[in-house]
Amino acid sequence: MTAHIIVLAGDGVGPEVSREAVRVLQAVGTKFHHTFTFEDHLIGGCAIDATGSALPEATVEAAGKADAVLLGAVGGPKWDDPKAKVRPEDGLLAIRKALKLYANLRPVKVYPELAYASPLKPEILAGTDFIVVRELTGGLYFGQPKERRKRTDGGITAVDTLEYHDYEVERILKLAFELAGGKARRGVVASVDKANVLETSRLWREHATAMAKDYPAVTLQHVLVDTAAMRLVMSPSQFDVLVTENTFGDILTDEAAVLAGSMGLLPSASIGEVKNSKGFALGLYEPIHGSAPDIAGKGIANPVGTILSAAMLLRHSLRLEQEAQAVEKAVETALQQGARTGDLTKTNPLSTVQMTDKVMAHL
Ligand SMILES: NC(=O)c1ccc[n+]([C@@H]2O[C@H](COP(=O)([O-])OP(=O)(O)OC[C@H]3O[C@@H](n4cnc5c(N)ncnc54)[C@H](O)[C@@H]3O)[C@@H](O)[C@H]2O)c1
Repeated sequence: MTAHIIVLAGDGVGPEVSREAVRVLQAVGTKFHHTFTFEDHLIGGCAIDATGSALPEATVEAAGKADAVLLGAVGGPKWDDPKAKVRPEDGLLAIRKALKLYANLRPVKVYPELAYASPLKPEILAGTDFIVVRELTGGLYFGQPKERRKRTDGGITAVDTLEYHDYEVERILKLAFELAGGKARRGVVASVDKANVLETSRLWREHATAMAKDYPAVTLQHVLVDTAAMRLVMSPSQFDVLVTENTFGDILTDEAAVLAGSMGLLPSASIGEVKNSKGFALGLYEPIHGSAPDIAGKGIANPVGTILSAAMLLRHSLRLEQEAQAVEKAVETALQQGARTGDLTKTNPLSTVQMTDKVMAHL
């Protein structure tokens, strides 16, 4: 296969970790006889410095024509002035919108040998391997009206609107069912809602129940969001695929992220409506961490989150499942054999490049 990948390295540790993920993708290309081409573009603070915009038109144009987009991270103290007209994070929101990304996928896998780094007990974490599918474009963050109203008694009332359309609910649930039925998962969807209180959740639950009939190999569970929050820390291994709306997903994904033990380990994907040249979803792949200004430029950032994001790119935008699993397995073996960056050990930590070398040695 030939595939064209846009690399948006961004700021801080972004260039350091995305460079390593590109090396891994190149190695995958060589091993499995694919030709991946890479094209760098600007986003975030570096884009503001160069062009005045956090997402230059050239980036949008190139990303729209790509097979997939790999992103490092954006932001940093240099662009933190609250009075600034444009901020690096504006670039993230803008590219999600430009690529019509409606689903955010966040896998969380706890490696037994890294359980010491997690705030939870190893026996609770054992077997934890799930993915959260969060709806990205609807719900409370975007519903209108969103405003403040002056009351006749002189006080202020603030209003946000929680709104979901049936087609938004359908497409995200479909993605979750397809994922759960795929080779990389175990066939269980936990649909997270608040159907005992919210009308949008009742619509969500109706659609989930109806859709389950189309996926007989997948087991559907309905879980109230408060229960889901509790179970994520009490028995996280019971989950396979969690699917939920925007606000619940925002909160649960951050809760879930701490299980793994380091921000540097976890990947993410955002999937959109736009199809690439292969007819698959054009996605944006990035580690969950930010630009880590405290360690940027030192060559010590953990590249694993970005390397695993590249594995997701192979899986979701190129449908190269075997290749995706090969990368995931290489990461797992490197970790099993003791490869650690400074976020995971104080004793002789590996550099960003050395950690990637250890992963590539097992590809
Ligand atoms: N998607 C994104 O690009 C994104 C996400 C979150 C934050 N940000 C931006 O990043 C900047 C820094 O934010 P923050 O400090 O709150 O979050 P952060 O994720 O950058 O860092 C939090 C902590 O985790 C550590 N860390 C992060 N990634 C690591 C890695 N790969 N290896 C080892 N350690 C790692 C950092 O050193 C830091 O101590 C801010 O400007 C913020 O707006 C960007």
